[in-house]
Amino acid sequence: MDLFSNIRPAVEALGDGAFLLPGFADSDAIIAEITRLTARSPFRHMTTPGGRKMQVAMSNCGRYGWISAPTGYRYDTTDPLTGAPWPAMPTAFVTLAKQAASAAGYSGFEPDVCLINRYGVGTRLSPHIDQDETEKSWPIVSVSVGIPATFQLFGPTRSGGARNITLHDGDVIILGGKARMYYHGIRPVAAATDPRIGALRYNLTFRRAR
Ligand code: SIN
Ligand code: FE2
Repeated sequence: MDLFSNIRPAVEALGDGAFLLPGFADSDAIIAEITRLTARSPFRHMTTPGGRKMQVAMSNCGRYGWISAPTGYRYDTTDPLTGAPWPAMPTAFVTLAKQAASAAGYSGFEPDVCLINRYGVGTRLSPHIDQDETEKSWPIVSVSVGIPATFQLFGPTRSGGARNITLHDGDVIILGGKARMYYHGIRPVAAATDPRIGALRYNLTFRRAR
């Protein structure tokens, strides 16, 4: 038994600048913040440029928010649903993102976006590259909360197939280096129940947009 695992979380290198930090995040505190934040900027199903409603419900906090609309993807300081600025990023979120990035070797990360995703049972996220950021040298820090999901990590194209990684409550994935521009997605979420939030999975992705 490793007595230190509770003190110093493991960092698992996934290759090409991607890392998994199992159980790194305090999900109870994150759930409380998500509840507070989404009372101000509610979850909504955005429309893709192709005219489809996204399965994943989304909101944001931070200086910028990521928005999908019929006109395209963009970052904006204003929530189009409320007409108000996105809620400020909680200090605890900033600290979590910085500490996770540092643990993976990316020090100095200052996120200006936190995209908040909500998945129900059966919800999937199609493979994509995060490429709407002006500044692409900073990593993406992705935090999982609630019921598990299978994260698919492809390469610079989708043709080589994916590595499937099960993400549990509190796990953090970091995409930096070459993997920053790798395709990734979420397989349809399997039925499960979290004692606090029910049959839901939340995901926070911290980004540096500008
Ligand atoms: C994303 O790629 O934006 C979200 C990934 C996840 O939900 O784990
Ligand atoms: Fe993504």
